[in-house]
Amino acid sequence: MQCVARKSLMASRHLRCASVWANVPLGPPDAILGVTEAFKRDTNPNKMNLGVGAYRDDSGKPYVLPSVRKAEQLLLARNLDKEYLPISGLASFTGASARLAFGGDSSVIKDGLNSTVQTISGTGALSIGAHFLKRFFPHSKKVFFPTPTWGNHGPIFKTAGLEVGSYRYYDAGTCGFDFAGACQDLEALDEHTVVVLHACAHNPTGVDPTPEQWKQLAEIVKKKNLFPFFDMAYQGFASGDATRDAFAVRYFTENNIPLILAQSYAKNMGLYGERAGAFTVISANPEEQKAVESQLKIIIRALYSNPPRNGVLIASELLNNEELRQQWLAELKGMADRIITMRTGLRDGLTKLGSARDWSHITNQIGMFCFTGLDAGQVERLIKEHSVYLTKDGRISIAGVSSTNVEYLAHAMHEVSK
Ligand code: LMR
Repeated sequence: MQCVARKSLMASRHLRCASVWANVPLGPPDAILGVTEAFKRDTNPNKMNLGVGAYRDDSGKPYVLPSVRKAEQLLLARNLDKEYLPISGLASFTGASARLAFGGDSSVIKDGLNSTVQTISGTGALSIGAHFLKRFFPHSKKVFFPTPTWGNHGPIFKTAGLEVGSYRYYDAGTCGFDFAGACQDLEALDEHTVVVLHACAHNPTGVDPTPEQWKQLAEIVKKKNLFPFFDMAYQGFASGDATRDAFAVRYFTENNIPLILAQSYAKNMGLYGERAGAFTVISANPEEQKAVESQLKIIIRALYSNPPRNGVLIASELLNNEELRQQWLAELKGMADRIITMRTGLRDGLTKLGSARDWSHITNQIGMFCFTGLDAGQVERLIKEHSVYLTKDGRISIAGVSSTNVEYLAHAMHEVSK
């Protein structure tokens, strides 16, 4: 009897609990990170995870850069405390981060016009930027992204209360840049519209404008008074050269185009889970700079009070200690070069197998990702029949390919596409 009573009490508690959240619908798995969950459940020994953009070494293992390991040892020997960082973050990191993006001799930096704050990697930088736009951008509250764009862009900006729109970017016919379409769409936007531009190694397509095309895009941006929000998550990862990859950001800045910038050190320093990033607003004069920085701090304080220490302490070592910096830049080039080698290997593998398709885009695209051009059905077959995991849009992370499995991948792609 007692037992029955207890059971019904538990059931009613359960019901009461369930009813509070009864209107919460089950959300879908994340389009990118959800791929890893499915990969982990697969027992095929040949399985490949080409979903998330995370670099692997040639034996398929996560890679901690030796320069990062050295920085960690230096930091450990310093026996640092765990005090809070300032709301705007570690100054030695934010200063160096701005110099990496804009160049040490940029007039913006020399004149102190940048407000650069530490953020929780690139996502945090975009999010702080979105909140800042929502509060202070005096014109429209709609932000335009390339089609396609990183799957998290829309949610980040919508969560901050902004609307999102799109402009043409990728040409499915050529697997390349739809330059004419992008120009037409940007020209057609209202004046003072915010446009998100991927600074280099466009995610998910791996398709970047050439320097000449950037110059023409800058012309349109200037003419139409568009407001660029640069997302630079892969500086150095596209060409292997951090200065070269900053071309667009520096060209726009040198041409006095006001902009804001999100930076991430997840990929180029391999600091994924350390969440090191930065957000920059460039102001017209020092007074404005002070006001902007004060408001960024107010936004950060309300969201998470102040940023974490560990990742930026490491990043700051890599950016400020000349010997470590040189080592880091060499290791960064090593990662970019390995990706380029895998691209060639994949393309050659497909050719050797007699694929009738044109796969030249595999080597024309750059950065971590290749937008294969495979359709949804082919993607599904890659996953189901070959245990090759990728995002539904046909994007593969070349960083997850190694010399031991590149042939397997070519074979699988050939099988589903012939
Ligand atoms: C990706 O696109 O795979 C990366 O930027 C990781 C992520 O958070 O989506």
